[in-house]
Amino acid sequence: MKILVAGGTGYIGSHKVVELMQQGYEVVIVDNLCNSYAGVVDSIAQITGKRPDFLELDLADADATECFFNHYTGINAAIHFAAHKAVGESVAKPLMYYRNNLYSLINLIKNMEKQGAGNLVFSSSCTVYGQPDELPVSEQSLIKPAWSPYGNTKQVSEEIIHDVCIATKLKAIALRYFNPIGAHASALIGEYPIGVPNNLMPFITQTAIGKREVLSVFGDDYPTPDGTAIRDYIHVVDLAKAHVVAVKRMLSNQCKSNFEVFNLGTGSGYSVLEVLRSFEKVSGIKINFKIVARRAGDIEQVWADTSFANRELGWKAALGLDEMTHSAWEWEKALRNIELKTQ
Ligand code: NAD
Ligand code: WQD
Repeated sequence: MKILVAGGTGYIGSHKVVELMQQGYEVVIVDNLCNSYAGVVDSIAQITGKRPDFLELDLADADATECFFNHYTGINAAIHFAAHKAVGESVAKPLMYYRNNLYSLINLIKNMEKQGAGNLVFSSSCTVYGQPDELPVSEQSLIKPAWSPYGNTKQVSEEIIHDVCIATKLKAIALRYFNPIGAHASALIGEYPIGVPNNLMPFITQTAIGKREVLSVFGDDYPTPDGTAIRDYIHVVDLAKAHVVAVKRMLSNQCKSNFEVFNLGTGSGYSVLEVLRSFEKVSGIKINFKIVARRAGDIEQVWADTSFANRELGWKAALGLDEMTHSAWEWEKALRNIELKTQ
């Protein structure tokens, strides 16, 4: 089976490629490298012992995408990770986000449909729920107006996929990720944020290694046990394994409808301070942090009801918070060695 992984040199995509290849799938990666680097393909080859095909391609470019599909036939399913993902940047540059995230999706499904390769797994996000009225949040929970252009691209993308699934033979699964953190156990692939990280985990590891002076904890006046905000952090390897299950489900015609949606989280929420304490425990390093005001646009707490995914996919996140923070730290240290070698 040949699987197209769009955005496959990125953080989550690269872990997914490894899991697919280890299960014997043939993989072709397309990525325009706007938020990753081609060396990730070498790392994947080192982990799996086999080199995936890789083509540099901007999926938002309709002609280039059509050209790719004209030459690359026999794709059984596509997994679509290729998108911009920084919430703050999307507020500052909405058109850049709508253009990239929506054009790339449209170009991908248009060409898949033409080829008859009608199986799509789409990277959605818990951001579609905003601050839910009830916790945990299930797939049936209300989708509220998006808080950012990025969030809106995920909502609109799901609507586009839904409509195309009704109108054509496309089959799709949207996976709504909660907060993916951590890295592969080999420490050969992981998250590689360009510039100052927005997300908590890379900011913690960069503070620990000395790239950042101090971690700002955004708010300790939330109505949570320790006052800091709560999220459902999930190990990126658990997330990648869920994608393999989703692909198998589609290819073996086990989907219950043409468009299915699943939450991917652990079902447990952790506060910012709990993540910090876990990191300090596994690394033995004290993090220099200060409490500052809440970050604009942050919700107070969210975690997933994972019962539908557990039951239907037969998948459950297996790795705990300490394994997440430990692997993130091993990756940060490995990155330092790579950076020292290339200086
Ligand atoms: P990432 O930036 O590491 O990976 C995305 C990859 O897509 C990058 O390699 C980038 O170069 C590529 N890309 C972007 N636009 C492209 C285009 N037009 N053509 C070809 N390649 C393009 O991000 P990630 O964290 O791995 O996220 C993957 C997907 O998961 C995204 O769709 C993101 O919105 C979604 N998601 C991420 C999170 C998270 O916290 N990381 C949470 C929920 C959902
Ligand atoms: C987690 C917690 C921060 C940084 C984002 C997107 C969401 C999804 C996942 C893609 C929050 C706090 C953070 C820091 C801190 N992505 N924090 N100091 O905001 O839950 O979700 O990534 O779909 O759409 O919004 O993740 O890692 O930024 O923050 O105190 O320096 O850590 O306030 O409570 P978030 P995050």
